[in-house]
Amino acid sequence: MGITVKPRHPALGAEILGIDMRQPIDAATVQAVSDAWMKHLVLVFPDQRVSDAEHVAFTRKFGEPEIFHQTSLHLRSDRVREIFLVSNVDEQDRLMTPAEPSQKQLSSSRQWHTDSSYRPMPSVGSLLHGIEISRTGGITQFINMYMVYDDLPEGLRKQVEGRKARHDFGMLSRVVGSPPPTAEEQAAMPPVWHPMVRCHPVTGRKSLYISSIYNDAIEGMADGPARRLIEELTEFAAQPKYMYRHVWEPHDVVMWDNRCTVHAVTPHDPGERRVMHRTTIVGREPVTAG
Ligand code: OGA
Ligand code: MN
Repeated sequence: MGITVKPRHPALGAEILGIDMRQPIDAATVQAVSDAWMKHLVLVFPDQRVSDAEHVAFTRKFGEPEIFHQTSLHLRSDRVREIFLVSNVDEQDRLMTPAEPSQKQLSSSRQWHTDSSYRPMPSVGSLLHGIEISRTGGITQFINMYMVYDDLPEGLRKQVEGRKARHDFGMLSRVVGSPPPTAEEQAAMPPVWHPMVRCHPVTGRKSLYISSIYNDAIEGMADGPARRLIEELTEFAAQPKYMYRHVWEPHDVVMWDNRCTVHAVTPHDPGERRVMHRTTIVGREPVTAG
């Protein structure tokens, strides 16, 4: 049985029909999903009532799931260690307030970023399962960074070509005022330098690689101008023509490529429960400028 691929936006994002993540999936189907993923960058799998174990098993078809290194804020599930909790409800089913440390840290995902870019070999992709979705906001927006790179005005292109930016996990706490990582967590994840223009290892295409929440420095630039350059690049990228906005339905699973997209979620009423479980596929190689 083949899959059906229905594009949701001209720039990126497609719906995949004909998959049941609870059932075994053959190699030809995995290949068809991979091909669609490389073409559309963000895939939406509607109506996948998976357990965390099934979610992790499906993720393994595409690589090794990442285990989040930070344990102090309980964003990593205590039950299934490959699950990252993108939720305002804890594992004891308690609705949390926006002032709680984990929620402050999660609020950083309202700014454009790509997952785990602070690792020496950043994540390949992520799969987010919407278990309890928001109706007041919580729209997850994605940008095609290949298109952004291709369309960069000359003035901006000159400033990023051949240049590296630093990605620091600790930057998060400075951006949103959440507790800084512990000394141990900091030692486990020292800042790393990655090219600002990267070459995709599968498609060979170049994309802009930046992060509003992890970039804390740019090679050869003072802090102020570096910050402003990231803001200017982000503003250029965040145009509707490059963006797919995912409005969630219960039990959507959305799978995105962290190498050529950035994402950001819109705010929602904090009194409304939002329970989302994410797996993250570990990177297999360093970022290369191509
Ligand atoms: C993520 C993230 C998106 C969302 O899961 O990586 O940034 O919709 N959040 O909450
Ligand atoms: Mn994210």
